[in-house]
Amino acid sequence: MSAANPEMLGVFDSGVGGLSVLNSIAAAGVNLPTLYVADQANVPYGGRPLDQIRNYAAAICRALVRAGCTHIVMACNISSAVAYEIVRAEHRNLIVIGVIEPGAAAAARLETNRVAVLATKGTVESQAYRQAFHRIDPGIEVGELACPELVPLVEAGVTTGEEAVVAARMRMAQVQSYGARTVVLGCTHYPFLLPVLRAAAPEVRFVDPAEATAQLLRSYVSLNNGGPQHVRRLITTGSRHTLQKQAAAMMNGTDFTVAEAVWKGDELLLPVGLPT
Ligand code: DGL
Repeated sequence: MSAANPEMLGVFDSGVGGLSVLNSIAAAGVNLPTLYVADQANVPYGGRPLDQIRNYAAAICRALVRAGCTHIVMACNISSAVAYEIVRAEHRNLIVIGVIEPGAAAAARLETNRVAVLATKGTVESQAYRQAFHRIDPGIEVGELACPELVPLVEAGVTTGEEAVVAARMRMAQVQSYGARTVVLGCTHYPFLLPVLRAAAPEVRFVDPAEATAQLLRSYVSLNNGGPQHVRRLITTGSRHTLQKQAAAMMNGTDFTVAEAVWKGDELLLPVGLPT
């Protein structure tokens, strides 16, 4: 990219889950000016019709591109599952990365026998993970498990304590009876529940697609400068104050600012004057 067209990263999710992807991107050493959209007016995406998810995802990506983003990470699994091809086709001149292919590839490198994918209802229905695994290895057994109760827990900040433990035990018992030793966290919210998931099934290996996604992004970025971390600008379609509190607990102490965006019909309007 030239100086006239500086690299800028756009990341989005239905809510705070994608902050786990921002954390992985930072851990991978990618340091770009970043806009992050949390569509908290519409979270959870998981039970919504897939066409509606396609429309949200495409509109959010258009808004990010209008704001100057040159690299888009579709952190949201369900959006990646149902809208990746559409978004990529619409922005052929930009880098567009989804989480499904990198996540499946990372898990398939570790496991050739049987994997479980924990995901939202829509991601399971789309069968995107199953298809991605079978493109890599048609012989691998893929069990997909919808966990609709987990996203509301993470959005509410309930990642420890009895409610989280009970939910984690129930889902990991299903994984154990399926006989999988490798589990893909097929929703960005779930890495925040990793301590309770791990405690429920210590023998299981967890794969967070964010890590492979961040490495893939890194390979497309020319600016990995070693300077101070660019501030991440978090933009919510819900309450700025709520996201401020959530992000303070979830972003490993790194700097961020928070603003609000609004949906106008099918168009997402980001705040004006976003610095790059
Ligand atoms: N976090 C999103 C995902 O990765 C969707 C969660 C939801 O809103 O249901 O699929």
